[in-house]
Amino acid sequence: MRSPTDLLAELTLEEKASLCLGSSVWQTAPVPRLGVPAVMVADGPHGMRRQPDADHAGISGSLPATCFPTASALGSSWNPDLVRRVGAAIGAEARAQGVAVVLGPGINIKRSPLCGRNFEYFSEDPLLSGVLGAAHVSGIQSQGVGASVKHFAVNNQETDRLRVSADVDERTMREIYLPAFERVVTEAGPWTVMCAYNRINGVHASQHHWLLTDVLRGEWGFDGLVVSDWGAVHDRIAALRAGLDLEMPPRLGVSDRAIVTAVRDGELDEAVLDRAVLRVLNLVARAADPVAATFDADSHHRLARAAAAECAVLLKNDHTMLPLQPAAGQTIAVIGELARTPRFQGAGSSQVNPTRVEVALDEIRAAASPGVEVAFAAGYDLSNTARDDGLAAEAAELARRADTVVVFLGLPAADESEGLDRTHVDLPAGQTGLLAQLAQANPNIVVVLVNGSVVRLDGWQQHSRAILECWLSGQAAGGAVADLLFGIANPSGRLAETIPLRLEDTPSYLNFPGEAGHVRYGEGVFVGYRGYDAVGRDVSYPFGHGLSYTTFAYSDLHTAVTGDASITVSCTVRNTGHRAGHEVVQLYVGDPQAQVARPVRELKGFAKVYLESGASRTLTFHLSRRDLSYWARSGWVLEGGTFELAIGASSRDLRLTAGVEVAGPLPARPLDGMATLQEWLADPDGSAAVRAAIGVDADGRPQGILGDDELLTVIGNFPISSLAVFPGTGITNAVVDDLVRRFGAGHAVHG
Ligand code: BGC
Repeated sequence: MRSPTDLLAELTLEEKASLCLGSSVWQTAPVPRLGVPAVMVADGPHGMRRQPDADHAGISGSLPATCFPTASALGSSWNPDLVRRVGAAIGAEARAQGVAVVLGPGINIKRSPLCGRNFEYFSEDPLLSGVLGAAHVSGIQSQGVGASVKHFAVNNQETDRLRVSADVDERTMREIYLPAFERVVTEAGPWTVMCAYNRINGVHASQHHWLLTDVLRGEWGFDGLVVSDWGAVHDRIAALRAGLDLEMPPRLGVSDRAIVTAVRDGELDEAVLDRAVLRVLNLVARAADPVAATFDADSHHRLARAAAAECAVLLKNDHTMLPLQPAAGQTIAVIGELARTPRFQGAGSSQVNPTRVEVALDEIRAAASPGVEVAFAAGYDLSNTARDDGLAAEAAELARRADTVVVFLGLPAADESEGLDRTHVDLPAGQTGLLAQLAQANPNIVVVLVNGSVVRLDGWQQHSRAILECWLSGQAAGGAVADLLFGIANPSGRLAETIPLRLEDTPSYLNFPGEAGHVRYGEGVFVGYRGYDAVGRDVSYPFGHGLSYTTFAYSDLHTAVTGDASITVSCTVRNTGHRAGHEVVQLYVGDPQAQVARPVRELKGFAKVYLESGASRTLTFHLSRRDLSYWARSGWVLEGGTFELAIGASSRDLRLTAGVEVAGPLPARPLDGMATLQEWLADPDGSAAVRAAIGVDADGRPQGILGDDELLTVIGNFPISSLAVFPGTGITNAVVDDLVRRFGAGHAVHG
């Protein structure tokens, strides 16, 4: 294909307009006259959903592809290298299927456990989401195909998703909802960014100039293409002006005509159109002439299995129930329909047609040593959430005669889908009732959980000795569970989201999913663990938690502040158990003296390390000024003071802590007429000037308001200029004018 700039010069206005829309549900528009081909895009993100027909809008029937663990699972791996490898495998499959851009990953923040698409998102934390998102994008793009990081931005619910306005303040956006996108854009250079469906503070994401142009391109330097989410464009001209380059699927005959008319009528500057066209041509040029490729389904399946094993989180393991070590002649009871009928992905646009599917029951049977009986009872019916007494009784009978009971519990498929939010976080009553009955028959119970977004454990977890949270872990989840249960793999997943005690405890509870077209992000920056920690609320399991079959000790915390307020932190971690395993070392930072409300602690670094038994490793983290800062008005503010650094195995299992002094100016405001009297008095020079202006009596006692403590308490927080209307305070208009003239913007107070 010829160079995009040359081509642009030869395109007619109609051809330019056509390029800003797709030509089908999954293809860009070709310009055959100039040899510009159409390129294909497809979902994403945990495996390919490439429809055989470019105009096929349905969900199922896509070409077979490897179904990798969903993002909720991959998020729990805390392993960017793994996520990169998965991304690379997906990229290879995309190339083999002739796809130029994979629509993913989704990196929206899990604001509420109710969001129906939480299984497609990594975490409640922006750092973890950003690091894993960047790894996913680099992996995909290492194969010569593009990624489309989505959904930009503040897209955290499915209810009313095409219309709802996420009403959120800028600080919350900058600290919580934008940083993951910023990291992916600046570190991984995605070919495309997909705008969200929703509105943000009243403006559709597809028409949001500040978001799509000022921030994305202006501040972050994005040079790729912005594509709409499917059907997100409402006003094609407003969207073009805002920076949305490609409309998908195309509103053929409408949007293209509107563009041509707008340019002809002088309503749309042709230079704006040209900019979008050039970005489309650049994308096509990047994707044109792909090297033909195939993929090895077996090795991708093996990767999917290893990945699924790395994603599972061992929540509890009382009496060292796991790993199972059954002796010959013993019986393992596997109970639960989900062991036989796997659920391994969520519903909606990310649904993959898997190349094969492993069944946990079969895999457990295959992994059990000879002489060990693996017996099965369904226990419940997946199509019915109520208790089935017959199935439960049969399962209890099996549990009674077994040595160990492995119970598969999980959410029904209907509970988790793109397009709908949940209304509760409970497992079906039939399943939890069954568990209580099994516990009476046999206390040696291991629960294997299968769900894409968190479920409530409080109320039933006492009936289990071990819980392995496996998420929706892709087509090889069954084998991974068997590997974990028998200790062939050592659990190393950590929670990427808090498991609350109750739905009502979640920070967004009172503001989700909103009403009358608006959802107020009232909890501000206190999302997920930031919210639970701020109010000291108990949770079932905290962010970052996860056990291993081995143990780790932490020591030797060292911190050093370098000139520009960046901090180096190092510590040593040792495997003190008898098995090799991975530890996820987490670095949290808190700023307890800040003049704005800040989370108690925030994740600012992490590393997943593999250690043989007895081995140790020293890790070093680097914190930047930005890591210590909060967003105020129009920029990042680093407030000098003592920062609390903590290294831990979870957000509530902090093993090493240190206070670190960081120099930096305190936020300041000018000593002007709007500065309060108290602010003037808090400043040594300002105080001296005010005192001199008001004066003292013959005995040296302060006059006016300075001699009246009661009055000072009541109106001392008035701007000094407002005090001039109160007689007897000693503050007159002339005094204010004089003070402001002498101090004003040139003199600032802190606080
Ligand atoms: C989803 C996107 C997806 C697109 C194409 C939309 O409904 O929100 O995540 O990539 O459809 O299937």
